[in-house]
Amino acid sequence: MKSTIRDLSLAPLGQSKIDWVAPRMQVLNMVREEFERKQPFAGKNVVICLHLEAKTAYLAHVVRAGGANVTVVASNPLSTQDDVVAALVQQGIQAHAWHNATEEEYKQHLQLALDTEPDFIIDDGGDLVSTIHTTRPELLKKIKGGAEETTTGVLRLHSMAKDGVLRFPMIAVNDAQCKYLFDNRYGTGQSVWDGIMRTTNLVVAGKTAVIAGYGWCGKGVAMRAKGLGARVIICEINPIKANEALMDGFEVMPMVEAAQYGDFFITVTGNTNIINKEHFVHMKSGAVLCNAGHFDVEVNVAQLKEIAVSERVARTNIAEYVLSTGQKLYVLAEGRLVNLAAGDGHPAEVMDMTFALQALSLEYVAANHEKLSAGVYQVNSEIDEKVAQLKLQSLGLSIDTLSKEQEAYLASWIPEAD
Ligand SMILES: NC(=O)c1ccc[n+]([C@@H]2O[C@H](COP(=O)([O-])OP(=O)(O)OC[C@H]3O[C@@H](n4cnc5c(N)ncnc54)[C@H](O)[C@@H]3O)[C@@H](O)[C@H]2O)c1
Repeated sequence: MKSTIRDLSLAPLGQSKIDWVAPRMQVLNMVREEFERKQPFAGKNVVICLHLEAKTAYLAHVVRAGGANVTVVASNPLSTQDDVVAALVQQGIQAHAWHNATEEEYKQHLQLALDTEPDFIIDDGGDLVSTIHTTRPELLKKIKGGAEETTTGVLRLHSMAKDGVLRFPMIAVNDAQCKYLFDNRYGTGQSVWDGIMRTTNLVVAGKTAVIAGYGWCGKGVAMRAKGLGARVIICEINPIKANEALMDGFEVMPMVEAAQYGDFFITVTGNTNIINKEHFVHMKSGAVLCNAGHFDVEVNVAQLKEIAVSERVARTNIAEYVLSTGQKLYVLAEGRLVNLAAGDGHPAEVMDMTFALQALSLEYVAANHEKLSAGVYQVNSEIDEKVAQLKLQSLGLSIDTLSKEQEAYLASWIPEAD
């Protein structure tokens, strides 16, 4: 089938981006070598629905090296890089995506990818899985399972399983330790500030950053804000996370109070309507608002538009809204996840671990799908440890191992004599 992309002539630029990340994803390269030998997906159709940038493109190549016919489709309309998608198509991988697709086009692209009748899928945020279940039930017989990338998608899968509607096994890659400890925390921490800084070209030191959500991503964003010299305020709904933020040295208060202090607002909760008109009216003129959660529902841009007397594009990826009081508020990347919609996403070395988990989890589903009933599964702990070991190996590092004496000591329960 023909691909649906914007411009094939962009391929050389996209290829140079893929060539930059490929040698920096050493764990994935080791998995690739294994896949070339073992061909775990020989002749199978795989649909990959992720943010379409260079690291994802390289994952698509690795899955193809395992024998699959790969089709890629976007998990977010603003994060697609047209040059990277063109490079994939040039290399014979089917793609249905372009940057800034309308809601209608985004849905059409998902349908076109599903027309390839996948055996296995990789999803990010759950749009592919829910589209299959709600609009393409005839595919449910063929799909043997897949893997989900992010917190929000895993949450949706659990809701589907709870309602008894999920019809194939899905591995919750997000919940593996080698995912959230590194990708959500260090990846989001670095790439969110990269996205904000390259888009606004503003100083962070001496300013106040208000961060909503102190989960794995929020911790990373807060840690890097502190490192950049900002005063950091955390907004949470979970009293345990709020205490954790306090002990980590941050101020904690509700958003309605924090609104007056922030120079930068970053939502990363996975929840909806975190910043709205109740808060906009208290904000300083010049405040910059953005989101790093999966969906563009955390900053209520619709309400901001309602109360604004004017709006304009102030700079690429920056929308300016002027309130009747004269306050000017700036929203980055339409409130879509700022690190991908206004940046290149996480660093390659971080996505190396995440995508190695994706590839190995998909291999696990391919090998074990007959034993797996429909439902949400954790990443096998052996895969999690393997990725961590391979990462150390790729860095030329080794660690200590338990001696027999230490193993016996840890397993014992009889008190030792004084
Ligand atoms: N931008 C990226 O590249 C990227 C990477 C990984 C995950 N994500 C997405 O980021 C979001 C957060 O992921 P996570 O792994 O940190 O999740 P998490 O579950 O670890 O953390 C979310 C936190 O938000 C808090 N929260 C929920 N509602 C809130 C509210 N109304 N106000 C304040 N805090 C609230 C929760 O208590 C929790 O502590 C998800 O949507 C996830 O899919 C984005």
